[in-house]
Amino acid sequence: MPGVTKNQSLLFLLLFTSFVFLNFVNNVNGGITSKYVRKEWPSVDIPLDNEVFKTPDGHNAPQQVHITQGDYDGKAVIISWVTPDEPAPSKVHYGTSAGHYKFTAEGKMTNYSFYEYKSGYIHHVLVDGLEYDTKYYYKIGSGDVAREFWFQTPPSVGPDVPYTFGIIGDLGQTYNSLSTLEHYMQSGAQAVLFLGDLSYADRYKYNDVGIRWDSWGRFVERSTAYQPWMWNVGNHEVEYMPYMNEVVPFKNYLYRYSTPYLASQSSSPLWYAVRRASAHIIVLSSYSPYVKYTPQYIWLKEELARVDREKTPWLIVLMHVPIYNSNEAHFMEGESMRAVFEEWFVQYKVDVIFAGHVHAYERSYRISNIRYNVSNGECYPVPDKSAPLYITVGDGGNQEGLAGSFRDPQPPYSAFREAAYGHATLEIKNRTHAFYHWNRNDDGNKVAADSFVLHNQYWSSKVNRRKLEKHHLRSVIGRIAEFEQVTSISGLVA
Ligand SMILES: [Fe+2]
Repeated sequence: MPGVTKNQSLLFLLLFTSFVFLNFVNNVNGGITSKYVRKEWPSVDIPLDNEVFKTPDGHNAPQQVHITQGDYDGKAVIISWVTPDEPAPSKVHYGTSAGHYKFTAEGKMTNYSFYEYKSGYIHHVLVDGLEYDTKYYYKIGSGDVAREFWFQTPPSVGPDVPYTFGIIGDLGQTYNSLSTLEHYMQSGAQAVLFLGDLSYADRYKYNDVGIRWDSWGRFVERSTAYQPWMWNVGNHEVEYMPYMNEVVPFKNYLYRYSTPYLASQSSSPLWYAVRRASAHIIVLSSYSPYVKYTPQYIWLKEELARVDREKTPWLIVLMHVPIYNSNEAHFMEGESMRAVFEEWFVQYKVDVIFAGHVHAYERSYRISNIRYNVSNGECYPVPDKSAPLYITVGDGGNQEGLAGSFRDPQPPYSAFREAAYGHATLEIKNRTHAFYHWNRNDDGNKVAADSFVLHNQYWSSKVNRRKLEKHHLRSVIGRIAEFEQVTSISGLVA
């Protein structure tokens, strides 16, 4: 360039390169760290004499009522409750109109001790052979202390069946937990996908552990008696407590919470799958063995092969420990499960993976790190259209408080993150689209702080491909017709 010195050219080149580089860095680090600062409510458990833990009136009245899906396809529920004072029949009377119970189902009663705490009598009853999309009323207990509830069965499993799931994790029993629960109940969602860490009773010692499991059961009954919560375990369910000679993992949880694991050919209640409406939901245990040759590994391999996206387009996986997390809390704890299962999640085009554990909210981009092995050095996650979204909703509001410290800078895999309490909803519309919302507890209000349209991983690409094929076919036919027209006009075709 005339009049431009060599030094000026070098300076221009340097500035241009910096501009390109900074743009690249900005684009790569496109994630958002929310500036919202939670006005902290006390992260203490609500006192036991509070109304939210109220024991129903009457001697031996059933309490801690909760239901969960009881089979693979949603035509059964497991109804569970506790009679606190003495054994009672494990009987459910049910029917399709209030007060008229044409049917009876009978189940099993159990109890256990934990240190010197003696549990009440825990009842689990499978109610099966239900009609789809039907409201059922049910009664448990008898005489003056009988209690009545209702639930709605899901529509028959099918590819375009709309259905709304709520997603809650790490709930506990604080004032923040209550806010989450109340906000969730306003959401209109039809069933809960629970991400582990239920009661946080393990924060207590000796007999108070069992007592806080009971209070949590009464606390959540306002929702769990009326709609199924699909359970999953977290670290707070492990309760390995040698100091009081309690060394059987998940003891309190397993006595109290049932899952339909046999229906999905699982060998453990801690991992299982259900199909509900248009979703296939796989529940994994972060705290059970999952490396190659373990029962959970073998089961997952077989369950993924059973998924039929023509029937259940939405493939959702639940686990407690997030695989992609950029919070200082529990950073890298999901790496071992990522190394084992991520390849399958990509291969099977899982739509979304929900996790808890980190007491904050975070959503990833579609990324994967499956090229990595210990010798090739390709150790960074890269954009991957076939990969699931990873969403952490460990923000139910337990007594451990918020995980407010995110890693800085925000890693390229992290799309949005915020340290606040809340819950999420996934509103499935049809086989291709679902609306997703994460709802922050903003003091007394439920505020949608992260929302987007989720495109189905299997059907969106299929529909696009079909559209392209259709478009291609149309344009080919169009061109043939045009050619024929032209050639007939010009007399080339007889
Ligand atoms: Fe946890």
